[in-house]
Amino acid sequence: MTDSSETKRYSAGAIALHWLIAMFILALLPVGFIMARANEALAEGQTLLPPDQVFTLYQMHKTFGILVLALSVMRLVWRLANPAPPEPASLAVWERAISALVHFLFYFLIIALPLTGWALVSASPQEVETFLFQVSALPWPHLPVLSDWPIETREALEPLFQNTHRYLAYGAAFLIALHVGAALKHQFVNRDKVLARMAPGLAGKVEKPAQSARGGVRAVLLGLGLLVGGVAVARLAPLLHGGETGAPSETTSVDADGAPESPAAGASAWIIDHDASALNFEVIWQGAERTGAFAAWSAEINFDPDNLDDAHAVVRIETASASTGVQYLDGQIPGSDGFQSDAHPVAIFETTNFNALGDDRYEAVGELTIRGETQPVALPFTLTINGDEAQMSGETTLNRLDFGLGARSDASGGSLGLEVVVRVELEATRAP
Ligand code: HEM
Repeated sequence: MTDSSETKRYSAGAIALHWLIAMFILALLPVGFIMARANEALAEGQTLLPPDQVFTLYQMHKTFGILVLALSVMRLVWRLANPAPPEPASLAVWERAISALVHFLFYFLIIALPLTGWALVSASPQEVETFLFQVSALPWPHLPVLSDWPIETREALEPLFQNTHRYLAYGAAFLIALHVGAALKHQFVNRDKVLARMAPGLAGKVEKPAQSARGGVRAVLLGLGLLVGGVAVARLAPLLHGGETGAPSETTSVDADGAPESPAAGASAWIIDHDASALNFEVIWQGAERTGAFAAWSAEINFDPDNLDDAHAVVRIETASASTGVQYLDGQIPGSDGFQSDAHPVAIFETTNFNALGDDRYEAVGELTIRGETQPVALPFTLTINGDEAQMSGETTLNRLDFGLGARSDASGGSLGLEVVVRVELEATRAP
């Protein structure tokens, strides 16, 4: 037992950071475990939790993991400026040695755990984006070097980071059990003041630190700087990479805001009314049908039912403008396993010929090029022409693997259906 007047407590900042970090880690451990199991189940076609909930758990896990990283930076800076109070004199030598070792391992873990989590997300070839608190205005960047490595290297590294993260987490759970056990032993068996040194709200019951706290501003600025800097980098990166922001790039004549485009040349040219037209797609994801739309595309159409030989159409689609409303899918669509919109901003469908199918039915036959891969495609459609107004409605089904889409993350179609139905609805006016 010890003389309580000799026992000094930690500084208020150290106490606050200790409990905040402890609280977050205690939540992150079970959440990480549950989401990883639920995700493994989904990959095997079983459902422990609905996919949207799994996605939310991942995003929240990453958010609070990054918060732990920022708080841990604060804690380390604080600790360097404010040494821990001396151990109570009652502690045996072996207790001091073990406690010093456990504390050192904790400092290591609170930095290494979030860093390996961040590394595994950054190296992952699936390139799932992180949004703090799932708020799209708060993107979090991938670690730059890792995300720039070639896919093959990242495929090899991902499991390494995954396992390191996992075993560090299990190690942390073991150390926490040891740490809590020791604290309880001191409190209820030894009945000394070891726990009280770190317990909040005990000012006055245990002596305050010998010196007043230092370095608080520096610690807070560094922690907050990491968070604000990370979000700023993630927000600026697309601008620096030449506008992956969803805004139409200069490489296309895309006009999705309803303004008329320049018509195709020829007497049978048509001007698309974008407000009344749509380019949609449907795909099964996690057992449910998801509908997506391209916001930015253009079409040059020359079509006269009485002169099909001269008919010609070119449709240019801004690949990064696709959205499904499912945050996970929307993050994947422009990425390296999706359209690769950085390298291939535009998908093009160009007709080679048109066939009449009877009545007002026709078929546009042509080639569709997506991320450099060209495949023959036939689009049957219905056309109604009333004077100078035309309405067209067509639908075709593509196999996404023909274009390599999602081939790495789901080549079997277990989560994301292989068939993608593309639906085109156009309203157009004859060019003057
Ligand atoms: C102190 C902070 C953290 C703790 C305690 C923690 C804990 C865990 C745990 C227990 C798991 C489950 C391991 C398994 O059983 O497979 C896990 C998985 C995961 N963590 Fe963390 N984590 C932390 C920080 C982070 C951060 C900062 C990120 C990313 C920014 C992250 C990303 C992930 C991911 C993506 C998985 C799933 C891996 C998989 O699907 O196999 N974690 N984490």
